[in-house]
Parts: sequence; C-alpha cells; structure tokens
Amino acid sequence: MASVPRLSVRGLSKAFYHTQALREVDLDVGVGEVVALVGENGAGKSTLAKIVAGIHRPDAGELYFEGQPVVVDSVLTARRLGIAVVHQELNLVPHLSVAHNLFLGREPVSGPVRLLRRADLRRQAMAVIGAVGLQVSPETLVRDLPLAQRQLVEIGRALSEDARLLIFDEPTSSLTETDAAELLRKIRELRDRGLSVLYISHRLDEVLGVADRVVVLRDGQKVREVQAAGATKLELMSMMVGRDIDTMYPKKVVQLGPVVLEVRGLLAHGLTEPVSFSVRAGEIFGIAGLVGSGRSELLRAIFGAEARASGEVFVMGRRLQARTPWAAVGMGVAMVPEDRKLQGLLLGMSVVDNVALSVLRRLAAGGLVRRRKAEAAVGAEYSQRVGVRAASLDQPVRMLSGGNQQKVLLAKWLASEPKVLLLDEPTRGIDVGAKHDIYQTICDLAARGVAIVMVSSEMEELIGLCDRVLVMRAGKPAGFLEREQLSEQAIMELAAQ
Ligand SMILES: Nc1ncnc2c1ncn2[C@@H]1O[C@H](COP(=O)(O)OP(=O)(O)OP(=O)(O)O)[C@@H](O)[C@H]1O
Ligand SMILES: [Mg+2]
Repeated sequence: MASVPRLSVRGLSKAFYHTQALREVDLDVGVGEVVALVGENGAGKSTLAKIVAGIHRPDAGELYFEGQPVVVDSVLTARRLGIAVVHQELNLVPHLSVAHNLFLGREPVSGPVRLLRRADLRRQAMAVIGAVGLQVSPETLVRDLPLAQRQLVEIGRALSEDARLLIFDEPTSSLTETDAAELLRKIRELRDRGLSVLYISHRLDEVLGVADRVVVLRDGQKVREVQAAGATKLELMSMMVGRDIDTMYPKKVVQLGPVVLEVRGLLAHGLTEPVSFSVRAGEIFGIAGLVGSGRSELLRAIFGAEARASGEVFVMGRRLQARTPWAAVGMGVAMVPEDRKLQGLLLGMSVVDNVALSVLRRLAAGGLVRRRKAEAAVGAEYSQRVGVRAASLDQPVRMLSGGNQQKVLLAKWLASEPKVLLLDEPTRGIDVGAKHDIYQTICDLAARGVAIVMVSSEMEELIGLCDRVLVMRAGKPAGFLEREQLSEQAIMELAAQ
C-alpha cells in the first residue's frame, strides 16, 4: 500500500433511531487497492458506503481523503473529491434514456440557454456504453432495460465520472456468472491503473478473487481484517455469522406426489417457442439460463403477470382461467419477484403489515383487535423463519437493509401457504447465514408437498436444491436436466448459444 491511503475512516459511528448501524469503525483503502467489506444483512456495509458517498452524515468519526480531513456533506461533495458509488438499490431515472442517465446533470450544453448538444451526448454515451459492454443504443429508455443492464448503466455512470475511489455495493448480485466475471476483470484493471475500490458483496468467491484485503463487519463493528490471499470462504463465513456452517444445501429426500402445476405450450412476451413442463408436489423445479434467455418472463407468464400469447396453465388439474396474478393467487400460486424494489413490497408499511398482506383473506374473520393480533403473529412467525433482522417488526420496510427487505418479500409469500411457489432469484443479496435459512425453508416447504419453481443465476444453488432443471436459451427451452445429471458444465452447455 502506498504511504498515504486514498481513504481513511476513523471511529465512524452512525445510529438510525434505535439501531446502531456502525460503531467506531476504522478502515483504510490504499491507492491501487481493492478492499472488500463483508458481513451479514444489516451489518452496516451499505451505511458505511453511504457515509463515504455523502448520502448519510456520521454521528461521530472522521474521514480523510488522500491524507486530508474531509467533510463529505453531500453526494456532490463526494463526487468533486473523486468518490463515485454504484448502489445496491438502483438509482436511475426509468423514463429517461441511457445517455441521459449516464450524464445526468453533466449533459453537454452550449450557449446561454444551455441547449443540449445531442450529438455530443450521443457520442459520449456510446463511449461509455462500449466501455462497460452494454449492447443497447443510447436512446433506449432505462425502464425498457432488464435489471442486469440497468446496473451496467449505473456502473458506466460511475466510471465516466473519472473517480479515484469507486464504491460498489453488491454490483454483481443480478448479473450472470459470465457478466460478473467480466465486471471483476474490469475492477482489477482499474485497480492496476491506480484506482481504489471499496467492494461490498455477499458472493465470497468473488470477494476472494477481486480483493486485496477483506474487512468483516458484524452488528456495525469491525470484527476482523484479513489479507484475501490465503483466506478461505469458510473462514470468512464463520467470521461473518459467528458460527460454523457445515452444509449449505439441506436437501431432503421427498416422495413426490401428484402433478400440482402443469404448463402446456406457454408462449408469452420474451419467449420464442412454446414451453411445457409439469411440477409435482414436493418437487423443486429449477429454471436456468443467461440473462435475457426468458427465465423471468416464463415465470411471470405462469403467474399471469406477463400477457400470455397462447398455452395453458393448470393448478391441481384446474385450468387457470383468468390470466391475472389475482386469479393465480386465488388458486394457491405465490410468486416472489426478482426486483424487490419495484414489485411486491410497500416500503412505507411495516414488516408485519407487508407479511400479513398476502393472508388478509385468511385473517379477515373476527374483530379488528383479533385481526391485528393474528396479523402480528403471522408477521412474526414468518419473519423469524426467514431470519428478518429489524429493530422491530413495526419498522417500515424502507428502513431495513437491502437483504432484509428481500427476506420480508419471501416471508410475505410463504405466509400465504401456497400450493405452488414461484421464486425468482430468491437469495439475491442475501448473506450466507440467511441463505442457509432460506434454503432450509424451501426444502421444508417441498417436504410438505408444495411444488416449487425457482429461477436462479447461481448454478450452485440450482444444483444444490433442484430435482430437475429446465435450461432456457434465447427464449426457448434448451433442455431438461435430472438431478443426477446436474453440473455447472451441463447447465452451461445448454445455456450458451
Ligand atoms: N434509512 C434507514 N433508516 C433506519 N434504519 C436504517 C436505515 N438504513 C439502514 N438502517 C439500519 O441500519 C442497519 C445497517 O443497515 P445496512 O443497510 O448498512 O446493512 P448492510 O450491511 O448493507 O446489509 P445488506 O447485506 O442486507 O445490504 C440495519 O439494521 C438497518 O435496518
Ligand atoms: Mg446493503
């Protein structure tokens, strides 16, 4: 490390109401160094990143940038210093173009009326688009991009600001392994050019591959700091959760029951050939494929959230007539969508209310007081099952850490006691300890006869949990793999064009 670190953090503390998010944390990021920040959901990683980025003000502590004491009182100050951040929760304007989002507030203009120089904007945007490997035109509206590409736009914006300290908060959580590897390669390249990187991720393989040093946070405190070279994934895991984890995938042998979900010749937006398959009670059915292969569209079409062009869906032999999510819910189908911020959660409402929302009908009997009590009980039970960490279950969901919001979403649908559970990237952004709890919950549900369909970019997860996997490629089914045929290689061979 060079003599003067690019960033030094000393005695940083921050509380939100009753939650002590950070407690006297010290941290250095050197010039040309990648420091990874790891820890369970709610450990304080994003809070630290946001303080450095000028989004939150610390209660106590100092920041030094290139040896100088600095007060980072706004995002603008951070940017001027040369600090750029790629957020965990995307921060783009959906109805504006890619080009506008890349240069928001920095658009090339001329003359006293600040006329936008469109050709220049386009040219500059093209350069950034090329640099991050996006394959879209600069005029594309951000809302028309899939999540993975939106993230690339945000990464491009950070890179284009020519920052000297880049902060990535779970940048690869929605990318495929190939895209993630590409990004990591870029980060190493930036480091070799002398940039400094603070890197937050739950993917420990990735952390060990990209970081020089790893800082472990637990309950807002720095508990350990280790060199990445020589450290192992299992060591990091136990430092994070404070207990040993022996098996990640608690798969059970389940006697499969009758067919619960049948999909026959389904065609919808994003699919180029009809898809058919059936899932039996107790079965965990996986859907693999690259981003853009039609995985999520297929799942949404089954649920009725995506218009169906043709085909039928049957639940316990009954045809799903109306093609809407409400009809699906009415027949015992639940879905945990991919994009937790936009779908499924009411961020201003409490944890309990969000979880109870999906079971309102079941709880509707009885007076108001009884109902509130029943709601609280259901909310508490299911939040606990998936390991939601919050100061109180009456806290608005907005105040939870990203991973904990994802758990609330999962708890909400588990509480509805579905016959068919559709999961889209169920453990994205979730820490290893909680992942294990969620796998346990999924396996328990299967053992109780629920038919589970799960889309995932993590091949390890599909291999660890699924009885059968459908691999999608370019909008069509590329093949099915039985449990004993499952391997990363077998999935990739079917998934790659
Ligand atoms: N705006 C906020 N208002 C209230 N509490 C907050 C707010 N932001 C964070 N917290 C709380 O501070 C703690 C740390 O949250 P933070 O988002 O930093 O966790 P994290 O380590 O990034 O977790 P994750 O892995 O889930 O993203 C959590 O208990 C969270 O509930
Ligand atoms: Mg976070």
